[in-house]
Amino acid sequence: MKKIEQITTLADWQTFRSSLPKGARIGFVPTMGALHQGHLALVEKARSENDVVLASIYVNPTQFNNPADFAAYPLDLENDLHALESVGCDAVFTPQESDIYPDGPVARVYELQGLDQCLEGALRPGHFQGVATVVDRLFDLLQPDAAYFGEKDYQQVKVIQRVAELRGGQPRIVPCPIVREKDGLAMSSRNRRLTPLQREFAPQIFEALRFAQEELAVFPVPLKALVREMRGIIEAGGHLKLEDISFALADSMTPVTDPERYLDRYPEPIQCFVSAYAGEVRLIDTHRVVESGHSPA
Ligand code: PAJ
Repeated sequence: MKKIEQITTLADWQTFRSSLPKGARIGFVPTMGALHQGHLALVEKARSENDVVLASIYVNPTQFNNPADFAAYPLDLENDLHALESVGCDAVFTPQESDIYPDGPVARVYELQGLDQCLEGALRPGHFQGVATVVDRLFDLLQPDAAYFGEKDYQQVKVIQRVAELRGGQPRIVPCPIVREKDGLAMSSRNRRLTPLQREFAPQIFEALRFAQEELAVFPVPLKALVREMRGIIEAGGHLKLEDISFALADSMTPVTDPERYLDRYPEPIQCFVSAYAGEVRLIDTHRVVESGHSPA
């Protein structure tokens, strides 16, 4: 197994970059560490499409709207380096705050066409501007050819695609499917903060999403009724507290909000987004609940 190169300074990065063969394609996987199979699947995908695979680990302060969540974010660098190495990642960039934010940790303002204001953006004000800022900076510093993002953070993928568009189409953005535990729980660095009992009940989030998909495949259901049933599934047992269930047209991200309208009567596929708390831990998940759109009746 080839040893992974840990790059901690911009000078090291320049040295690494100049050691690469001319024209080597670089695939990039940005992360905040505490890696699991969901992250590693992105590295594997990047490995299959590029000459060099580079990950980054940086817990970005400007995307946390809740300081307690930032403070509690798990760090596990030793394990992360081994995990990355085991899937053939060539190098990992672990920058200092001053490399990313030479003028201090403040988010820039991007024209995100409202993507930062709706759905998860409405629940976490400023979050997506923070994500756009750090990812744009990493793209500037590292100049990858392609960058890999998970659809677990579906709206984040849309935001990054917009950032890439603002950068003239560089790098190529590759969305990758959600990796789940056997019981359906979407893998997340936050899952390790769950108590055994919370962990046992956490798969109810995906159960509710699957229920919505199955229900919509057989019955026409209006939004309001479906949300009520999904809430029942998520909160059963009393270990999870629903924060939000939202629906949006899967491509344009236009929120679907008419409570009386049947969800299978929209002209595009529909994506459902759930956020819930297990104690202090905020969990999110998302699923395509209507695969192909129907013409309005
Ligand atoms: P982080 O939460 O560490 O996630 C890094 C990447 O892994 C993201 O693209 C995320 O969508 C993906 N990922 C996480 N869990 C996944 C799962 N279960 N299946 C598939 N992909 C999964 O997302 C961030 O970090 C940050 O916002 C970042 C983009 C690094 C900017 O700071």
